[in-house]
Amino acid sequence: MSDGGSFPMRRNVDEITGSRRLRRMRKADWSRRLVAETRLTVDDLIWTCFVTEGEDCAEPIAAMPGIERLSIDRLVGEAKRLAALGVPAIAPFAHIEESRKDERGSHILDADNLMNRLIRAIKEKVPEIGIITDVALDPFTSHGHDGVLRDGIIVNDETVEILAQAAVGQARAGADIIAPSDMMDGRIGAIRDALDEAGFQDVAIMSYAAKYASAFYGPYREAIGTMGLLKGDKKSYYVAPTNSEEALREVEQDLAEGADMVMVKPGLPYLDICQRVKETFKVPTFAYQVSGEYSMIEAAAAAGMLDRDRAMMESLMAFRRAGVDGILSYFTPTVAEMLAER
Ligand code: PBG
Repeated sequence: MSDGGSFPMRRNVDEITGSRRLRRMRKADWSRRLVAETRLTVDDLIWTCFVTEGEDCAEPIAAMPGIERLSIDRLVGEAKRLAALGVPAIAPFAHIEESRKDERGSHILDADNLMNRLIRAIKEKVPEIGIITDVALDPFTSHGHDGVLRDGIIVNDETVEILAQAAVGQARAGADIIAPSDMMDGRIGAIRDALDEAGFQDVAIMSYAAKYASAFYGPYREAIGTMGLLKGDKKSYYVAPTNSEEALREVEQDLAEGADMVMVKPGLPYLDICQRVKETFKVPTFAYQVSGEYSMIEAAAAAGMLDRDRAMMESLMAFRRAGVDGILSYFTPTVAEMLAER
């Protein structure tokens, strides 16, 4: 019985809780570890990174402190290091020179474009790591949209044809997993057909199934050089932040069309969607901790407002708690090193 306070309690705490005390298991590090329900391991992390032209070069990205665009040789070296730390896969995005961009993003079909050269280099030099390749027109279009733009409209079916062809080109270069990030209707089925037709039955598809029209992609646009180019917004093809049933329909549709794995993007603001997708479909489910999520943590930490490492680990654990199988994250190299040190 407590006699510490002068405030008269009608019942003491044991009477209130029925002697249940949840703090018992929290009192020591060993018991906290023992009852931990969720784990984060290096196996859960996919390295999202940026590739650029050039040799032995790294370009800083102002909106993403600590992240650089890497030339192919540098990126291959880093992939090698991360593979040794146990990172299972990488998801590169290409910074394409503006002179290569046009209205239809036709350079995406060039077998020697930056992405295809990177895929070949990774496959040759780091065969032990999986490569998940972005299929979308935005790095290649002069207007920064994910599809063919005509009279102010993103033309769905024509875009799908280009994406299916581009996916075959990436598979030919050696991609293990094709990841369409465009949200056109029917692209998963069309890509599956095209891959099968070309003999790439074993190449998998990770669908950006529930991709939201989000402000959190801001820093990424600088990273791949579409920031000044984008005309208008992407609301006519990405899901509105108001909707969750629609996101589930997108996932259902992509699975029916042949997606092997699905993704929710952005991550933390859409943890409810992550959880519902996993619980509803019970398929390999991934979350993309996008550029804005990364930069918020980095900027707050740089301003002395929070502890970077703790916020980083907590945000990643939150994804695992929500049930996702893996996270695409710009923090992957840092976390892989931290986990290896433990
Ligand atoms: C578009 C694409 C986006 C991202 C990757 N591919 C969204 C966009 O530019 O609208 C965002 C990734 C990030 O913010 O980290 N196909």
